[in-house]
Amino acid sequence: MKEKIIGSKIIHLEKISSTNPYAKQILKDQVSEGTVILADIQTQGRGRKDRSWSSPKGGLWFSVILYPDISPEQGMLLTMVTSVSVVQAIEEVVGIKPVIKWPNDLMVGSKKLCGILTEIDSKANRINYAIVGIGINANNDIDEDLKDIAISLKQITNSKISKEKLLQVILKYLNNNYNKFNNKDFDFIRNQWLKYAKIIGKKIRVTDDERIVKGTVSDIDQNGCLILNTTKGKVRIVSGDVEFL
Ligand code: BTN
Repeated sequence: MKEKIIGSKIIHLEKISSTNPYAKQILKDQVSEGTVILADIQTQGRGRKDRSWSSPKGGLWFSVILYPDISPEQGMLLTMVTSVSVVQAIEEVVGIKPVIKWPNDLMVGSKKLCGILTEIDSKANRINYAIVGIGINANNDIDEDLKDIAISLKQITNSKISKEKLLQVILKYLNNNYNKFNNKDFDFIRNQWLKYAKIIGKKIRVTDDERIVKGTVSDIDQNGCLILNTTKGKVRIVSGDVEFL
């Protein structure tokens, strides 16, 4: 499958609460796969675990609607496909290479440049639809209270980047990588991801709602879960926040 799916239709809004719920709303109208919802400003941008996501003017805030033929357990692979595509695009357009931080962040040094929020809806062990929301601190100013943990492309390059160009190149890579993914070339995605994540062999602490696990990353499995070597043996991590030790 070589045709262009992603970005064949782009809905550009000036201001919206959040592009992810907007995407969900328009699904009722049988929107085609790969439709992109782009907003200049989000008034209620959301991150993982329902955290708020600051989305002022100047950032690149958008969601992509997908109908992948996978099971819900494989949903995290969509975040991996997206992370890889955004890194490749930023490398091509801006000339820097952010590092992927499991599960859904792109980092420059210790600061977050981009977050990805993948939401899936499933029935009978198949995914009905997935909405992949991508937030990139591009030309926006970083809120005062986030300055220690977030960074923008404008800060890194000391100049404004072309958001239009960056979006176009992200959609190009996403289209290529999503086609590979649809052809079940999961190894390609996994290998690319590992190249950009540099996480194997790192000592980390993962915190989720129920537990804290410390260990050394030994692998990432075929569904995108982390495999840690811990004092109690191998542990598989499905979700959580990672800190490097
Ligand atoms: C995270 O880091 O927790 C994910 C952040 C995802 C932000 C993007 S911006 C476009 C889309 N709309 C939202 O409200 N969130 C995602």
